[in-house]
Order: sequence, then structure tokens, then C-alpha cells
Amino acid sequence: MSQDNIKKSIAKYAAKYLTENTEKNCIIGMGTGSTVNYLIDELGKIPSASKHFKGMLSTSIATEQKLRDIGINILTPKDIQCIEIYIDGADEINSDGLMIKGGGGALTKEKIIASMAQQFICIADNSKIVDKLGKFPLPIELIPLSEPIIIQNILSIFNNAALSARRRDSITENHGIIVDIHGLNLSSEDAINLEAKLNQIPGVIANGLFTGNVKAKYLVTNNIDGIVIHSYV
Ligand code: 5RP
Repeated sequence: MSQDNIKKSIAKYAAKYLTENTEKNCIIGMGTGSTVNYLIDELGKIPSASKHFKGMLSTSIATEQKLRDIGINILTPKDIQCIEIYIDGADEINSDGLMIKGGGGALTKEKIIASMAQQFICIADNSKIVDKLGKFPLPIELIPLSEPIIIQNILSIFNNAALSARRRDSITENHGIIVDIHGLNLSSEDAINLEAKLNQIPGVIANGLFTGNVKAKYLVTNNIDGIVIHSYV
């Protein structure tokens, strides 16, 4: 099966789960990316879906538009304290449910909305499961002001000449820029420490390490037999 078809089957499972195993009128946080797009397509095929949820919080303009297209009510984080479920893809996920996210550039809103959720359900094909985090470049969103100094401060944390920071061309929805750190190889403990250090650098808006209260509680993924669910403590 192609990777796209695997993503579609994971999305189909997740859509059924969300509409059949959540309370009516619950609030869902919806991530960004191709797996999430397939999930929204699948929700669109379930006639009861738009009425089942009170509404959803969206993490990007693209996701919001797709949710509106299938009739989902869009809620704003300002009006809500807590949501039942945050559901999103990942670029990498390890055996503790820690992730690198932000390949699609939506990491800041993803992290904020994930932090409001009682549980994070990650939907990711099994190519995203890793032992160490960092083969996928780690995205960091910055305020554009004094970009060279901020990048210098980021790189000085690592003390590793093999690392490099590459700036993406596009500006984010928050008017930030994203640099991708290449060459990391992080255990869970490394990832937790690094996320905390990056959060202390002035000018860093958010980094793509999802640990602590934004790590995954469940992973919906695939193996040779079909869909499998992992749960993390
Ligand atoms: C976007 C993300 C995505 O969840 C991540 O990039 C995975 O995307 P896809 O489902 O397309 O593989 O973090 O910022």
C-alpha cells in the first residue's frame, strides 16, 4: 500500500473513532498536514459528524477552511479553557510518545491547542516511528527581528559542529520565520531538556519538540496486519 493510502486508512479509522467514541457536543482540536486533511475528508463522509461536535479549534488557515467546507463549527481558543481531544499528525514519534512536529509550519498554534487538550491522539503512518528524534529537521519558529543572533543562541546550546540551521523561505501565519535544525539525535531525556532550553531563548516563539503536557497519549498507526493503536503512559 502506498504511504498516502496508509494515511487514508488511518484517517478513516480516526474519523469513525471521533464520531462514535466521543460525547456529543465535545470540542476537538484539529492539527495540520496531509494526514489531518484525509481525516477531515473522512469526517465529511459521515453525515452525523458536523452535528456531533460542538465545534473544533483549528491550527491553521488551511485546516480551518477544510473544516468549514464540511460544516464543522469553528471555535476560537480565546473562548475555551479545555478541550477533550487534540488530534494531529507528526513528523517523528518515539516510544514515549514524544514528537517532532512542524514540518508543515503550524507548530506554534499546534502546541497551544494541544496544551489545552485532555489527550493528544497522534495519527501517523509507521514511517514516523523512530528510536531517536532528530533525523527529521527540528523546526523552530522565531521572531524575524535579529534573526542571526537568535540562530547563534540556538546553535550555541548544542556545541555540535555537525549541526546546521536552515531558514525556510516562507513567513508563518504568526508572521514568524522558521529555521530547521539538521543533525540532531535525541533520546527522550535529551528532547525534554532541549525543549526547555529552546523555550528560554529570547525571540523563539515555539519549537517543534512536543514533550511534557503536549506529548501523545495515543498513536493510531499501521503495521503489516492493518491499523494498530499504541498508548503511552
Ligand atoms: C504540521 C505538522 C504535521 O503534523 C506533520 O508535518 C505531519 O504531516 P503529514 O500528516 O503531512 O505527514 O506538524 O505542522
